[in-house]
Amino acid sequence: MLRIAVLASGSGTNLQSIIDACESGQIDGKVVLVVSNNEDAFALERGSKHGAQAVFIDHRGKPREEHEKEVAAEIDGHDIDLIVLAGYLRMLTSYFVSKYKNMIINIHPALLPRFGGKGMHGQKVHEAVLDSGDEESGCSVHLVTAEIDGGPVIGQMRVPVMPGDTPDTLQARVLEKEHILLPLVVQWFAEGRVRFVDGKAIVDIEDIQG
Ligand code: GRF
Repeated sequence: MLRIAVLASGSGTNLQSIIDACESGQIDGKVVLVVSNNEDAFALERGSKHGAQAVFIDHRGKPREEHEKEVAAEIDGHDIDLIVLAGYLRMLTSYFVSKYKNMIINIHPALLPRFGGKGMHGQKVHEAVLDSGDEESGCSVHLVTAEIDGGPVIGQMRVPVMPGDTPDTLQARVLEKEHILLPLVVQWFAEGRVRFVDGKAIVDIEDIQG
């Protein structure tokens, strides 16, 4: 059983999708730890309601690495196999990323490598997609490396951009897919299907039927 930690700063609907998939048996795992840098994050309530340890760790007034060491102490205390960033609005230093090499994934609400990088989060992503004139968008789950949104992509799902879309309507369409993609990728980890070779993610999938 995969022991999962989720780091989240906000509402935590993606966290909920993982919790639900664990409880239904779609994921052979359990969310044992939820960490937030935001005391009011609803993600903390979702975690504690479902048996995870939910911990608020304030980042304010601390050097970035000191905050990360406090987060790492929680992770190390819970024997974690996979760390999922789900709306976690903190950049991670190379200290944290290299300590948990190939163990941290993030969900991003666009088709990386498009519309990623510093400052590209929340509504800004969907605004940029609409400004670009792209006819499709989607979501990506990728490995977290020291480069923001730059690690190998593990899985993506696509949605059309519709005439008359606003950032809100596009976000809602993408979020629906996030809630499908993220549990799927977490289960790939639980099954040991994900490998990283030469900076690329390889997912071993058998029995694909067309
Ligand atoms: C999602 O759009 C996710 O792609 C991004 O942050 C948002 C988090 O939403 N990284 P929620 O807190 O999971 O509802």
